[in-house]
Formats: sequence, C-alpha cells, structure tokens
Amino acid sequence: AASAGPAASRPGPVVVAHRGASGYAPENTLAAADAAAALGAPWVEADVQRTRDGVLVLMHDTTLERTTDAEVRHPDRAPWEVSGFSSAELAGLDAGGWFGERFAGEPVPTLTAFLRRLARHGQRLLLEIKAPERYPGIEAEIVTVLREEGWLTGAALRRGLVVQSFSADSVRTVHELHPGIRTGFLGRPEPAELPVYAAFCDQINPRHTTLTAEYVAAVQALAGPHGSGLEVLTWTVNDAAAAVRAASLGVDGIITDHPDVVRRALTPG
Ligand code: G3P
Ligand code: CA
Repeated sequence: AASAGPAASRPGPVVVAHRGASGYAPENTLAAADAAAALGAPWVEADVQRTRDGVLVLMHDTTLERTTDAEVRHPDRAPWEVSGFSSAELAGLDAGGWFGERFAGEPVPTLTAFLRRLARHGQRLLLEIKAPERYPGIEAEIVTVLREEGWLTGAALRRGLVVQSFSADSVRTVHELHPGIRTGFLGRPEPAELPVYAAFCDQINPRHTTLTAEYVAAVQALAGPHGSGLEVLTWTVNDAAAAVRAASLGVDGIITDHPDVVRRALTPG
C-alpha cells in the first residue's frame, strides 16, 4: 500500500463522544447524543444490536439489566438478553433512570431514531456492531437502515460515517456489502498483520493504553481501501493527561465519555 504522507501533515485528533457524551447522560440514548451536541462533539460513537423481532437498537451490553429497568419490569426473564426481547418490550423500558432521576423514562433508541437525532444535530457517527456473532446478517440490516435514512449518499458518506467492530469478519462484511462505507477494526493487530486489515479497514482503533508513536505511525503509513491513509482512533480516553498523551502519539481521533475534558486538554493555551 502507498504511503499516506507524513504524520505532521495531519490535522489534530477529532473528538468522538463515546456511547454519546456518556459521562453526562445515559449511554447509547438520544439524551447522550443531545449532550454530545451541546458539548460540541462532532462525532458520536454508539453500539448497535438486534431485538428478537429484528429491530436494530442501541445497547452496549448484550444484556439489559445494567442500563435499563428490565430486571425490575421482567424479573422472570433473566439473563435479559437484548436478543430475547421484542422491540415493543424494549420500548417499555427505562434506559435513563439508572443514570440519574432527570433522565428517567429515556427510551432505548432504535438505530433509525438515533440516526435522525444525529442528522438533526449535524453530527457524524462511529457505529459499533456489538457482538455480531450473536446476530447473523446484522451487517446487511445496518446497511439497509443507513440507506433508508439517507446516510449512504456521497455527501452523507463524506460528512461522516464509520462502521467499526471488534470482529474483523463483521467489518469485512460491511466493506463488501457497501465499499463506500468507511470501516474500523477495534483492536491492535500485530504490525505485520496490518496490511491484511488495510484491504477492508480505514481505521485501526486500539485501546489507548496499548499505543505507542511507532504503532500509530505504522498504521498511518498504510493506505486503506479508499486510498487515503489508515487512521487511528483510540479509546476510552477520559482525562486530560491521557488525551495529551494520545494526541502526542499522533492519533487521528480520541473516543471519550467526556468530550469537553478532551477538547480543553487539546486546546492550546
Ligand atoms: O469505540 C470504542 C469503544 O466503544 C469500544 O469498547 O466496550 O466501549 O464498546 P466498548
Ligand atoms: Ca462501543
């Protein structure tokens, strides 16, 4: 693959609100997208899974009890797997009260509702396919929803959409279904393996504690499927010192629960 050019020519890292601005609002909800917008975060990360009746919804854990009141409402439904609940049942859950009283009644959003909220705010989306091995065929369903919601036009793709996963197979599937979509692999492949990923990934997105400047440079030296240099977005960076360190390593993006903290840390003066 061709060189992407010197790291010095890259702009500073973009700030990505992790599960929305999840330090300030319940993760993976419309309120978290709103909080990210209020803090000026240009990108929002979110996790997508599938209900029993095939509706795509946002949820990080593969079970519902940590971030909803499923355990209270459905005490006989342990272990409260997302895939075991219908969309109607999910619509009756409270995904906000656990985080704070003022968020009580916040719904589990469908992917469609979340896309509409981001579009209204002019925000970009880093969408993680969570646990895709549980949801055969979810990649095509995601592409369908993205298309229906107007996120796959040239302008929309340029504005900002990346689909990522810890599963390389899932990422490759998205790339093959719609090569125009930019993709990311969550993890830290060995440097020798990076050219394999560069065939179907535009980003390599490792945990921030695993990063070195040499690793970031090795990723960025490769060209991705769209010809531009591979990018590195790193997670989950929640304090100023870690943000400054990540930026000093040359990363292209910082994924954080606290976009205001990271932005302040990266602002000169
Ligand atoms: O976007 C990176 C990050 O979200 C991956 O980890 O567990 O927060 O989904 P997790
Ligand atoms: Ca995630």
